[in-house]
Amino acid sequence: MIDARISSFDADATCALLPFAPLIETLRRSFAEGCVVPVRHHHTIATDGDPDATLLLMPAWHDPQSASSYLGIKIVTVFPGNTARGIPGLTSTYLLYDGRTGEQLALIDGNSITTRRTVAASALAADYLARKDASRLLVIGAGRVASLLPDAYLAVRRIEHVVIWDIDAENAARLARKLERQGLSVSVADNLERAVRGADIVSAATLATAPLVKGEWLRPGTHLDLIGGFTPAMREADDDAVRRSAVYIDTTEALHEAGDLVQPIKAGVFSAEMVCARLDELCRRDVHARQSNEEITLYKAVGTALADLAAATMVYDASLAAA
Ligand SMILES: NC(=O)c1ccc[n+]([C@@H]2O[C@H](COP(=O)([O-])OP(=O)(O)OC[C@H]3O[C@@H](n4cnc5c(N)ncnc54)[C@H](O)[C@@H]3O)[C@@H](O)[C@H]2O)c1
Repeated sequence: MIDARISSFDADATCALLPFAPLIETLRRSFAEGCVVPVRHHHTIATDGDPDATLLLMPAWHDPQSASSYLGIKIVTVFPGNTARGIPGLTSTYLLYDGRTGEQLALIDGNSITTRRTVAASALAADYLARKDASRLLVIGAGRVASLLPDAYLAVRRIEHVVIWDIDAENAARLARKLERQGLSVSVADNLERAVRGADIVSAATLATAPLVKGEWLRPGTHLDLIGGFTPAMREADDDAVRRSAVYIDTTEALHEAGDLVQPIKAGVFSAEMVCARLDELCRRDVHARQSNEEITLYKAVGTALADLAAATMVYDASLAAA
């Protein structure tokens, strides 16, 4: 039994307290202000007869002297062997504390924090990078993260039509039906090249290990948002996409963790000095960063505990305000 003084937020309660427009503004402020984000801890756990499990710890905290200071940690377990047992392979919990006293305040559904802050951060980056008149969004993938992308992008651009492509066509059709029920104009792409060529914003959130998006398909003025690949072996776009784009990242970890940048760096196509800006720099400058309507922009994110803490703090503060 959880101590009654500790607030607890399940997935539904967490999502309800994180609507995208205010979440994007919270992230804009939080990236600009910054907080302490130590290197995330990644532990490999050998399991008997199953693939190795992973324990991921993502702490972050505000300056304890600041007026409203919080400390938080996201705890993620990944047990790939669970798929065969028919139970979820990933669990994620967020613990929020008072940043001045260490007193525990809340236990929050970590999956909802992760998916919502991820698409909100991408929409925030697109607010600085996508053309102001961008109206055709291509979503690549149809999983937990991808399915939220249209809602998040609608908070920053007048999206008139959404195209969905997924490696599993039935997944794409299911997501399209769900978005249609929300009143969006949606279609399913059976040809990825044609879909990329027709999009203003291309946003990918997949588990792809080989490039899906080819640079030669990107028409001038496109914004490419790459959310998926989180290891050096994973990729969503090819070297050409990186070569043709003005490249932005969420944090410097993207240069070491994401195959979409690690591999072009290894191939000599790209270097850290060619990064135009990180998301915190975009938020501090707070001006539209695209140089022209013809420029192709690319944003690569691997996620940061800063965004988790910002979203968790928003959940807790909103629940206090509503009490
Ligand atoms: N950057 C971040 O901050 C951040 C945060 C959360 C998740 N992610 C990443 O986003 C991706 C999607 O996460 P999710 O929770 O939505 O996963 P999910 O399992 O719900 O969805 C995965 C999607 O990828 C597709 N897919 C699977 N294998 C593929 C392949 N080989 N080629 C193309 N598509 C493939 C699936 O059909 C599905 O649509 C993952 O790589 C995850 O690590 C990134």
